[in-house]
Amino acid sequence: MKVKCQFSILNYQLFFYDVRDFVMDRKIPLNIYKISSPCVGTVLENKKLTQPSSPNDTHHVVVGLEGSSYTYLEGQSAGVLPAGMDEKGKPHAVRLYSIASHRSGEKGYPFSLSLCVKRVVYQNPQTGQEKRGVGSNYTCDLKTGDSVKLTGPVGNRFLLPENFQEHHFIFLATGTGIAPFRGMLAHLFQNHFKNEIWLIFGTPYKTDVLYEEEFGQYRSHPNFHFVTAISREEKNKDGSKVYVQHRILEHQAKLIPLLRETNTLLYICGLKGMEKGIHEAMQVMCPQELYEQVRKRILIEVY
Ligand code: A2P
Repeated sequence: MKVKCQFSILNYQLFFYDVRDFVMDRKIPLNIYKISSPCVGTVLENKKLTQPSSPNDTHHVVVGLEGSSYTYLEGQSAGVLPAGMDEKGKPHAVRLYSIASHRSGEKGYPFSLSLCVKRVVYQNPQTGQEKRGVGSNYTCDLKTGDSVKLTGPVGNRFLLPENFQEHHFIFLATGTGIAPFRGMLAHLFQNHFKNEIWLIFGTPYKTDVLYEEEFGQYRSHPNFHFVTAISREEKNKDGSKVYVQHRILEHQAKLIPLLRETNTLLYICGLKGMEKGIHEAMQVMCPQELYEQVRKRILIEVY
């Protein structure tokens, strides 16, 4: 997922649950590598996540960190420095993407991180000319063995709390906003997490349900509830698109009692627009008093 810092920081200030729980007395790796002296990783794998018939092209890129001091926590982001120069002849600006792997690295590659990146291709509405996002196309086109310059990690708030075993989690994602939850889920299940976890994932097509097989395997855990909202293939009764917020309403009989538990945390990651819809759904289904409590337990990373 591509991350825009400013929005996130603003949102954290407005809605952050309790900064002390996450930040104080906690060793969070931060900015180990900077633009002036990036970490040079090696691409170990680049796999297309969307199915071939999808109009979208999203990739899972594993970067080896062997020999570096790069460490991170689930929910943090890494910067990618695309090779080459921009139109002004300056090196391309850093692009931030959420890390999709567990802190111990990608399976089979103990010292690594992975990124989940959607290729951005758009048309200039005036000229009709095709434009390609620099960072996403660079990252999606990386080949095994290529060197890639990384900065970071960044982010000290969109993290699991240290005492995660004492919480329940509701993860709400759209598109590549699924990335941080992949790492968090791995961490929870590796630690035999027994409380409730909901993952509600919105995506345009069935061919774009990222990491579907992996999350499907977690379904063997009775405390894991995985729900998808396929916006361009499923419809609400009134004919409108199904979004994450509609699934929240649909499952309110189970979600309201969970939200009443004061140790339930909600994490939202993905398109900025989803935030409003989720708050509206919460307001519809929760009494005002509960909604006021819940909104203090929301962590947001939107772009
Ligand atoms: P749609 O684009 O059909 O309107 P991706 O990043 O891969 O495009 O996926 C983003 C998903 O989030 C899509 O299914 C998209 O639906 C959906 N989406 C778009 N706007 C909102 C919104 N305001 N609230 C929730 N989901 C949204």
